[in-house]
Amino acid sequence: MSAPIVLGIETSCDETAVGIVRGRSLLANVIASSVEEHARFGGVVPEIASRAHLEAMQPTIKQALKDANISLSDIDSVAVTAGPGLVGALLVGVGAATGLALGLDKPIFAVNHLAAHISVDALTHTETLTPTIALLVSGGHSSLLQVDDITGSITKLGATMDDAAGEAFDKIARVMRLGFPGGPAIDALAKTGDAESISFPRALTTSNDWQTRPFDFSFSGLKTAVARYLEATTDYAKANVAASFQEAIVDVLLLKSLAACKASGIDSLLIAGGVAANSRLRAVAEARCVKAGVRLRIPAPGLCTDNGAMVAALGSLMVSAGCAASPIAFDADSSLPVTTISVQD
Ligand code: KG4
Ligand code: ZN
Repeated sequence: MSAPIVLGIETSCDETAVGIVRGRSLLANVIASSVEEHARFGGVVPEIASRAHLEAMQPTIKQALKDANISLSDIDSVAVTAGPGLVGALLVGVGAATGLALGLDKPIFAVNHLAAHISVDALTHTETLTPTIALLVSGGHSSLLQVDDITGSITKLGATMDDAAGEAFDKIARVMRLGFPGGPAIDALAKTGDAESISFPRALTTSNDWQTRPFDFSFSGLKTAVARYLEATTDYAKANVAASFQEAIVDVLLLKSLAACKASGIDSLLIAGGVAANSRLRAVAEARCVKAGVRLRIPAPGLCTDNGAMVAALGSLMVSAGCAASPIAFDADSSLPVTTISVQD
């Protein structure tokens, strides 16, 4: 018998995304983004995102079914992002997924967006990497996690105390007038710059910080330092600023990730979330993990940023682990903690 088919819906931010998997095989991954509608505001506008989800939902589901070459009746389970995210945006996905599950009389898995980012690894590897340290870096979150069981046990080791890493990329790109979202623009510009040219601060890395907050991050001081530099200096190359800023983020993220591996005795690191698409983060992670004897996994760049495949992947892992489905009347939760892998009440 072939593995069950799971359809996953993601609408936590500005992507209306539908993924379909059969077991660990990806059958479809369709993404309709409203990013261009937000670009002129320099960030995601919740009302615009919700409206765009409503318009895109049905065509995105239809396209995913077409790409997977299946019909609605072939779906065995539905998975949906229940949080964290923008509540109005989440509710559109939750409404669509609940309707599908009810209409098809199939179970629904209301899953955590952050756990889903990590789960996407299952689509490219047959062996699940657990236990592992996971560095989760997105536009809204930056955390270091210990994942003992992706469907059952995630422990938070640390998190950002202010801005998320992706948020820092977006804010600095805005100051530098590079457009929104800022991560890909800074990544591209930094390739032609000198990462050693400006020494920007690495927060929470003093010996006292290593004692008291070893696995926490802070990026707002870095953001201010870059903004001050840009204000005070007239003769600079934009590419050098981008490269030096990016280097400061990458350096701290990996220093802390590898410290978490060492402290926990876990020799694997998984990097997930939109910022994991960053080419410099990927390259430096590779080099430092080889040196430290740590196994590294980072999803393909297209699976790092928000998508529906990751939601379907987590749903599928839950089905095969025999996890309980969610009640049909579950609530979306804009601040769902990463330790709640699926909503059970
Ligand atoms: O995971 P994601 O798609 O959405 C959230 O859950 O937040 O992450 C989006 C974030 C944005 O801040 C974006 O600028 C950042 O990921 N990002 C990048 C790159 N691609 C996306 N940051 C740095 N370098 C990139 N190549
Ligand atoms: Zn995300």
